[in-house]
Amino acid sequence: MCGIFGYIGPKTNAAKMVIEGLKSLEYRGYDSWGIALKTDNDIIVYKKTGKVGEINKLPKNLLGKTELAIGHTRWATHGGVTNANAHPHFTENKEIVLIHNGIFENYFEVKKQLLRKGHKFTSETDTEVIAHLIQENLKRHDFEQSVKNAIKKIEGRYAIVIIHKNENKIIAARRGSPLIVGVGKNGEYYIASDVPAFLKYTKKVMYLDNDQMVILSENSAKFYEIKTHKEIHKKMIEIGWDSQTAEKGAYAHFMLKEIMEQKETLYRAINQDDRLIKKVADAINNACGTYFVGCGTAGKVCLTAEYLFSEIAHKHVNSIFGSEFPTHHHFITNKTLLIPISQSGETADTLEAIEVAKEVGAKIISIVNVETSTMARMSDLIIPVKCGPEKAVASTKVTTAQMAILILLAYASIEKLSEGKILLLETAEKINDMLNPGYVMHIFKLAEKLKNFESMYIIGRGANYPMALESAIKLQEVSYIHAEGFAAGELKHGPIALIQKNTPCIVLVGENGSKSAILSNAMEVRARGGYIIGVSPTHEEVFDYWIRVPEVSIASPIVNIIPIQILAYQLAILRKNNPDMPRNLAKSVTVK
Ligand code: M6R
Repeated sequence: MCGIFGYIGPKTNAAKMVIEGLKSLEYRGYDSWGIALKTDNDIIVYKKTGKVGEINKLPKNLLGKTELAIGHTRWATHGGVTNANAHPHFTENKEIVLIHNGIFENYFEVKKQLLRKGHKFTSETDTEVIAHLIQENLKRHDFEQSVKNAIKKIEGRYAIVIIHKNENKIIAARRGSPLIVGVGKNGEYYIASDVPAFLKYTKKVMYLDNDQMVILSENSAKFYEIKTHKEIHKKMIEIGWDSQTAEKGAYAHFMLKEIMEQKETLYRAINQDDRLIKKVADAINNACGTYFVGCGTAGKVCLTAEYLFSEIAHKHVNSIFGSEFPTHHHFITNKTLLIPISQSGETADTLEAIEVAKEVGAKIISIVNVETSTMARMSDLIIPVKCGPEKAVASTKVTTAQMAILILLAYASIEKLSEGKILLLETAEKINDMLNPGYVMHIFKLAEKLKNFESMYIIGRGANYPMALESAIKLQEVSYIHAEGFAAGELKHGPIALIQKNTPCIVLVGENGSKSAILSNAMEVRARGGYIIGVSPTHEEVFDYWIRVPEVSIASPIVNIIPIQILAYQLAILRKNNPDMPRNLAKSVTVK
């Protein structure tokens, strides 16, 4: 949530670079944006509601020569979406400027103290309180010390970046929210919430960890522990992603591009070192309780783990949403295995579950796409998902790749890894065939039929039940159509009352064992007037509209979710929504 980007170095077009970089971070928040650039002895701030502005439409003074600029794209937490609440935030005397990602949990108490001292606030944000806190400290201390003193008062998770009108440096600090330093040529530095902001300029990065700060000047990046102010020597890491995979290419939207990339992402996800997969499978076999933990779509992937392990390995594993983990931590011991699943590796609720589990000595093995994320660095071991950057808010390619890894693990836990691999290789090949233009058009036609409905339902059984829930998320988040997923057999216990003439009901048909049962459930819906959309390898009489998917036995949740991703995308387009930037959402949810 919220994107941060800053630059210091010899290039004199820092402001333009920061504005361009912010555009690649808009998936993190896009309700307002702003930039601060340093001139000789002053700072110019420009901020506005809406998406990051087009460079050629911005005031000329913003694009003058500057070698230091910071910018922010916001996902509102405290205070509505207004120009005043957009970042950066000035101090009253316009001496320093600050941008922030996260939540300053005790801001109200601190604000009250500052109000008593005569401070006047111009926004409703928690961020502005940090700026004032620093200003208060500047009365007695230098810039660095004032920032340090202020940070020590913040409770909660944050990433902050600050500049001073008389100092040629950027100070940044973090706890919980990501900040990455990019190391450019000729003594230049970038600082951002995520690497795509500077991938065009450098692949060399250094990570800021929790409770650390960095001081960036031209030619130097100094890292410190906030508590002790001990200097830390950071390792430079080279990122494997390239800037092209982080761009849309010929596609109109990242969401469609990422859906189509599933032609090859599955191959990459299953191309794992066998020793790693076997090691993790052994850890699952030897653990006293395995918990899969994730949020949103990743949470639904965790739920498929329960079904996949039960079906494939006859083994019980637990799944739990990150946000619900606090009530389960009583069962966690040093013999528990926690398997967090995440695309970003920055989801606050999942990170908090890891912290709780680590405290009691549980082992942490993450399945994570961003290999250099906070989650990856907090884990004892990771299985990389290897999908490359996923930028659309709606998760697609990473979801199917994560499920493929679960299938590998379940097979490996019964010493049948190669059997699992063969199944997944066949699945990947069939997906490759399936994702052709004719197939996509067939789903686009269905979208045309459904575009004016305000409600739809999705049913599944077994491992396709979590995919019914996931289908609902996909449809909700980009089409804004009310969609709900159910375990098919549960329908008759209540939700069937919602079915009226023509109510769309998507039926995710699973492998043979559950097929006749779900077709009976579909029949029950049709008998009450429902319009049945069957996602199935074979055509069945009960279907009003058939979307063919390949026959892949237990891997059916992987193939069944793909047409729903396409449907959700096209419904967004037909309803004039931007599928890459759905309202009220952000790609990485770094607040609780
Ligand atoms: O980065 P993560 O996988 O940890 O993100 C978890 C959820 O926030 C994410 O899956 C969210 O539900 C997606 N927008 C769904 O498409």
